[in-house]
Amino acid sequence: MDLKEHIALKQLPKHIAIIMDGNGRWAKQQGLIRAIGHENGTKSVRQVVEASAELGIQNLTLYAFSTENWNRPKLEVQTLMKLLVSSLKKEIKTLQDNNIKLTAIGNLGTLPKKVYKELHEVIDNTKHNTHMTLTLALSYGSREELLNTVKEISIKVKNNIISVEKIDESIINEHLYTRNLPDVDLLIRTSGEQRISNFLLWQIAYAELYFTQVLWPDFTKQHLYEAIIEYQKRERRFGKTSEQLS
Ligand code: FPP
Repeated sequence: MDLKEHIALKQLPKHIAIIMDGNGRWAKQQGLIRAIGHENGTKSVRQVVEASAELGIQNLTLYAFSTENWNRPKLEVQTLMKLLVSSLKKEIKTLQDNNIKLTAIGNLGTLPKKVYKELHEVIDNTKHNTHMTLTLALSYGSREELLNTVKEISIKVKNNIISVEKIDESIINEHLYTRNLPDVDLLIRTSGEQRISNFLLWQIAYAELYFTQVLWPDFTKQHLYEAIIEYQKRERRFGKTSEQLS
């Protein structure tokens, strides 16, 4: 049965973020090299992008490469960067056809020139699309993002552009890489790990967390539907009581 029919389309999460984990273990299980795991991971990326666009999810953010991932063997980093370029080249048409805007968050200046160039080309070509925003977290670390935010605001205070009294949550939001995105409603992590791993620490303050054993290359549309159905079963109280909500 298609789980999609059990989703309440009027109560969709506005922002889904995914920690795509388990490519390496998936490959190992099949007796294959890690690169093949990542390659198959791109198929799951396609599945979740397509499913989200079909449902009408407005924002999807994928953790594709963390600041810590630079410490992986050089060859693996190269594989991931190559996959990124080839996926961008391959998917630009799909993004356009489906009116999807691509954005990226992270320390993008550290990406290899070729990746940076391709990425910005796709970002630029899709910037007027309105159906969904797909954000890739690349060379992303949440603490680094928060550090940058503190520095940027401090400079503005020093130059009398903002007063200390004016600093509130919205000022912080406006200085994060995610300044144009709403808070995360649903955070999914695959492969059985139950960690946040320095991903969107500020933005997940009230997010529902969903952990699944499924390894990322095995993650399909149906798995995404399952996560959304679970999200819709939960009561989000934002610190209030059940009675206050009803
Ligand atoms: C985690 O699996 C996955 C990554 C570090 C990268 C995710 C990248 C992709 C799915 C491919 C490219 C992305 C796009 C957006 C086209 P892991 O290697 O940590 O797995 P393990 O924990 O089992 O070793």
